[in-house]
Amino acid sequence: MTALTDLETPALVVDLDRMERNLDLAASYAATHGLALRPHIKTHKSPLLALEQLQRGAVGVTCATPNEAEVMSEVCDDILVMYPPVGERRAARLAGIATRVRLTVALDSEPAAAQLSRAAVAAGARARVLVEVDAGMHRVGVQTPADAVVLGRRIAEMPGLELAGVALYPGHIRGPVAGHAPQLADLAHSIAVVRDAFAGAGLPLSVVSAGSTPTIWETHLITGITEMRPGTYIYNDRTTAEIGACSMDDCALTVLATVVSTSVPGQAVIDAGTKALGREPIRGAAGEGFGCRLDDPAVVVKSMSEEHGILDLSRTAWRPKVGDRVRVVPNHVCIVVHLADVVYGIRDGDVASSWPVAARGRGQPVLADLGR
Ligand SMILES: Cc1ncc(COP(=O)(O)O)c(C=O)c1O
Repeated sequence: MTALTDLETPALVVDLDRMERNLDLAASYAATHGLALRPHIKTHKSPLLALEQLQRGAVGVTCATPNEAEVMSEVCDDILVMYPPVGERRAARLAGIATRVRLTVALDSEPAAAQLSRAAVAAGARARVLVEVDAGMHRVGVQTPADAVVLGRRIAEMPGLELAGVALYPGHIRGPVAGHAPQLADLAHSIAVVRDAFAGAGLPLSVVSAGSTPTIWETHLITGITEMRPGTYIYNDRTTAEIGACSMDDCALTVLATVVSTSVPGQAVIDAGTKALGREPIRGAAGEGFGCRLDDPAVVVKSMSEEHGILDLSRTAWRPKVGDRVRVVPNHVCIVVHLADVVYGIRDGDVASSWPVAARGRGQPVLADLGR
C-alpha cells in the first residue's frame, strides 16, 4: 500500500468515495428526471473516468477539443463536441473521429458547418450537428430563433451532415444557487421559443442539449431540454461549494502540497503555485484567494508565484511546520487537472489507484509529422 506521505508534491489526489458519490448522485438525478446525461470530460480528461460515467448510465460524453474527442473515442462511441469546428485541421480531425463513432458537433455559423461538411465528405463520414444558441452567456451561439432556423436549414442541405437539434450552455448562471430561479425560467422560455421555431420550419429537433454544474440539481427546471452536460460535478471545487451547488464535503479533488517555508510571519509557503493551482479567482460568489485548505477553509492561498503558494494564516490558530503536508481545494478544478500529468485516487487515507490525464494538451503533431 502506498501512503499519502509517499507521494511527491505537488500532487493531485482524488477521494474516490467522494468522486463515486458525485457520479452516482448525478446519474440518479438524470434518471429521475428523464434526462440523458452526457458529462463534459474537460474536467477529468481521463478515459477511465469516462468509463465510470458510462457504466453509470451516461449516454455518451461531451468534449471541447479534437484531442479530447480522439482520446475518448477509445472508450466511447457517442461523442458530442461542443466547440465550433473551425479550421481545416480541426475539422479533419473531427471527421476522422466520425468514421469510428457517432459524432455530434455544436456550431453557430455557416462557414463552420461548411468546413465540417467538406471534411466529413472527404473522410467518407457523417456528423450530426446541433445549432448552438446563445442562451445569455454571450460567448458563442446564434442570437435569435430565426437565425437558428436559417442555419438549421443550411445544415440540413449540406452533404455529410445531419441536423439533430440545438445546444446551449447556461454559463451565465453561475451565482449563488438560491438566486437561479428567474434565470432558469428565462432559459426555459427561450428554449420553448426555439423549439417552436424549429417545429414551425419542419426542422428535426431530437436533441436539446444544455446543462452545467452550477445548475446541476435544477436542470429539470430548464424545461424542454433532453440532455444535461455537467463536467465539474465529478470532482467539484471551491467555487462550486461557495455558490451552494455542492458542499465542501463533496469536493473530491485536492492539491496535495508541502510546506516549504515559514520564515515570513503570518504565512506558510507551499510548493503549489500558479503552475499547480492556476490563477483562477472565485467567480459568482465572494471569496478571496486561489484555493483553501481542505481541513480549514479559512486558510486560503492568498498569493502565488509559479512554484510558491502563500497560505494566509491570519484567520487560523494552525501553525504548520516546514515539511508538513497540506491539501488545497482549488477554486477551479478543470484548470488544475489540465496542469497535471497524473492523478492519484485515495481511499481510507491510502493511495489506491492512479491514472494519467490522458487527454490533456492539444495532441498536435511535431513539424516532422505535419505532412506538408
Ligand atoms: C459548452 C459547455 N458545456 C458544458 C460545460 C460543463 O459545465 P460545468 O463546468 O459547469 O460543469 C461547459 C463548461 O465549460 C461548457 O463549456
